[in-house]
Amino acid sequence: MNEFKIFPHLHDVFQTAADEFVRRAVDAVNAKGVFTVVLAGGNTPKSFFDVLTSVKYSNKQIPWHHIKFFFTDERYVPANDPLSNSHMANQYLFAKVPVLAENIFPIPTEFNDPKDAAQHYEWTLRKTFRIKDNEFPQFDLIYLGLGEDAHTASLMPFSDVVKTYSDPQTINQETKYQLVVALWVAKLKMYRITLTPPVINNAACIIFLVTGANKASAVSAVLEGSNDPQRYPAQLIVRVHGKTFWYLDQDAAGKLNQINKSK
Ligand code: 6PG
Repeated sequence: MNEFKIFPHLHDVFQTAADEFVRRAVDAVNAKGVFTVVLAGGNTPKSFFDVLTSVKYSNKQIPWHHIKFFFTDERYVPANDPLSNSHMANQYLFAKVPVLAENIFPIPTEFNDPKDAAQHYEWTLRKTFRIKDNEFPQFDLIYLGLGEDAHTASLMPFSDVVKTYSDPQTINQETKYQLVVALWVAKLKMYRITLTPPVINNAACIIFLVTGANKASAVSAVLEGSNDPQRYPAQLIVRVHGKTFWYLDQDAAGKLNQINKSK
């Protein structure tokens, strides 16, 4: 089940997202002493982080010392590469707020074999959440972006990981509880490391942040098109415990039908 919020202006998307971040962070830390957040990659998060690190939020009593940060996916490049998602998060977020270094969990990219990096991140998640091999971590909040080709995280159209989770029949003992996978993305000529759909879907809250007219076709295809998760991998994101939220600006919502646009 998806719930949309369509905002008149770009800034409203990130302002609302920042207010929701503060609310959820304070509630989680008050309740259990920690708030676990998974950050999306790409460029959209930069605008979100600019709002979250702005003066308006500097006195919002965000419990930064109690927040643990993870990543939905990573480009398999060195950590200091401008293409790196953790490099972007360091530059736009972590360098500007008092998070604890030990609470930042980047996806490693220094292994020779990307599959070893995926396995290591999976080990890190199981250790951090103290879960067994047949359990999934439950993150408090996961942010996702949407590519123009309707990918999310690094769940790329027609990739093996997307094919596996598009057809439950193909899920076997090896993939059933897989948390993290590595995949070669031919069109990008690079490996990617990504969380798997079941890990994302187990989150307590999932928020897609999607802006820009260039995403309108993908938004419409994912939310109103035919059910074809291999072609539109973001359709694999169906939160287990309730609604998935979409924060859209009017441009990104431009091809949704009238009914949904009334929201
Ligand atoms: C990545 C992301 C990816 C991103 C979308 C949207 O590593 O690129 O995790 O899923 O969220 O591609 O990217 P933009 O925000 O740059 O449009």
